[in-house]
Order: sequence, then structure tokens, then C-alpha cells
Amino acid sequence: MKIRVALLLCLTLLSCFAAGCDKRVNDSEQVSPEEKIVIKFSHVVSENTPKGLAAQRFATLVKDRTTGRVEVQVFPNSTLYSDGEEIEALKSGTVQMIAPTTSKLSRLSPQWQIFDLPFAFNDGNEVHRAMDGPTGEKLLSSLSASNIKGLAFWDNGFKQMTNGKRPLIHPEDFGGLIFRVMINSQVLKRQFEQLGAYPVETQFNDLYHALETNLADGQENTLSNICSKKLYRVQPYLTISNHGYMGYIVMTNEKFWSSLPDDVRLTLESTLHEVTEWERQISADKDRESMEEVVSYGKVQIHHLTVAERNKWIEALQPLYSEFWELTWE
Ligand code: SIN
Repeated sequence: MKIRVALLLCLTLLSCFAAGCDKRVNDSEQVSPEEKIVIKFSHVVSENTPKGLAAQRFATLVKDRTTGRVEVQVFPNSTLYSDGEEIEALKSGTVQMIAPTTSKLSRLSPQWQIFDLPFAFNDGNEVHRAMDGPTGEKLLSSLSASNIKGLAFWDNGFKQMTNGKRPLIHPEDFGGLIFRVMINSQVLKRQFEQLGAYPVETQFNDLYHALETNLADGQENTLSNICSKKLYRVQPYLTISNHGYMGYIVMTNEKFWSSLPDDVRLTLESTLHEVTEWERQISADKDRESMEEVVSYGKVQIHHLTVAERNKWIEALQPLYSEFWELTWE
């Protein structure tokens, strides 16, 4: 018996030296509950969107790279919090990551509305230059005052107009129609008022219902959201206007972020950087695929604005630039 106990002890000591006694256990099943870091990532769109796919990819890569020590739990489709609730949930620490549209941050700092100004960007490269340059830096650092740390900018794409009443070709076509707008953005409200329409703030999880029941006649959104929410089923008119841009800020609770061990924070940051590159490519792919989906549905009348028509829209919306002049920093 004594020999068996001594042998067992030797074996244990040997395996301990072989593995390195000071090393953490690297088996995710064996990470103790005290060691485990859980990050709840809440968002409002479906899994099959650029944001939904990127959040999931981030979770998978983080699990692998921290060998289970960090678990990112993704809650899509407003299952945890709606877009009207998620910022407060982040500030209070009941979730650790969210990725709202820039428009929805305007209450924290009105400067975020710079991305809402109609026809401010001609293409994705111009958007990325703003996001990845001094404008983006200033915007991200403005979040600190709210105990929020901005981590990355993700894409969704350019917004298009849909509605259930008539084709939207000329600025006058908007007259008298009710348009859903995202919460918190004065610029978006004024954009529709300027076109003679009535804006109504609606949370994303209520959007389909609002259109189906005629609480709103129309809305603006990216093709990916129009498809993942099946909005085209209740919006027979689509205008490819590319009049505005929709992007996201991946954010965390600043206090939570600085409480993380340095090695974990570095892994999360480098993984997010990599996922951001991937997300931007995916959003371009999704935009194209979504257009194909609307076309193949076959019941949506699609109008692509001509250059002359686009210029009329630009002219009609020009007064917003003097109204919101303080949004332009440079
Ligand atoms: C989102 O893409 O996160 C929602 C956009 C919207 O509210 O229309």
C-alpha cells in the first residue's frame, strides 16, 4: 500500500514538473468559475448580419485564444436589451459590450450625428478615413465622460429608402409621409422634416410591426437590415439612394475594461482589431447579397437614383449643413 502511495506521489510530481507548476490550467473545462471572465455582448440585429456575424466570430476567437478563460456570450435580436435600453445597461455594467449605430449615441455627444448628415460621404473609403482618422479618435474619446470605452468602428453600409405608398424619386415624393427614424438623432428627424415628411422615432425591434400596421409609411436602412428583418415584404418601394451611412461603435464599460488582467485585455484588443477588418469585408458582401435577395423576391419596385435626381436630393437637404454646422470639426 505504502509503495503504491509513494508511486502515485512521484507520478504527480513528475507530471507537475513536465507541465510547469506555475502554469494556469489550459483546459477550458477546467477553468475555475473564479478565473472565468464572462462578457455579455448584447445587440439588436439578427445573427446573419455583419454585426451579428462579427460578434459571434469575436466570441469564438476569444474562446480559443484564451483557452476558455474568457467567454463572450452574444445576445442578438434585442433578446437582452432593446436599442433604447442597451446604453444604460452598458453604463451600469449589466452587459459588458454593445455595438449601437453612431446615430443612437447622439444623446451622449451630439457630435456622433456627423455620420447622419445626408450625402456627407461618397463611398466607404471616405467613411473609413473619417472613422480611422482624427474624427473617429475624438468621437471615441468623448465616450469616456460616460464611463464608456469605444473599441472599434464596424460597418453596415449605406442607407436606402423604402416605403409602402409610392416610389421616392423626387424630394417632393416624401411630402406628407411618415418615416420611422432611429432613436436619438436630431439630424435624422430634421432630414425627413426638410423633405416635408413626418419622422417618428421607433426602436429597431418595433420596426417591422410599425411598417406592417402603417404606424410608419417608410424608413431608411441598409440592405442588410432590410433583408434580415424582411422589411421588403411590407415595403413595396425601394430607392437606392445611398444618401446616408450606417455604422457601429463597439463599446465596453470603461471600468470593467480597465479591471481586466493586462494579458486578457491585449488579447481582446488584438482579436477585435482582426475581427474589425473581417467585418468590413463581410458587410460589403452582405450588401451585395441582400440586393440579390430583394431582386429575387420579385415584388419590390426598385429605383436607382440618377445623378440628376441625386443632385436634387442634395440641394433639398443642403440647409441641414448650416443648421448643424457645429458638427463639422475640421
Ligand atoms: C442596427 O443595425 O443596429 C439597427 C439599425 C436601426 O435601428 O435601424
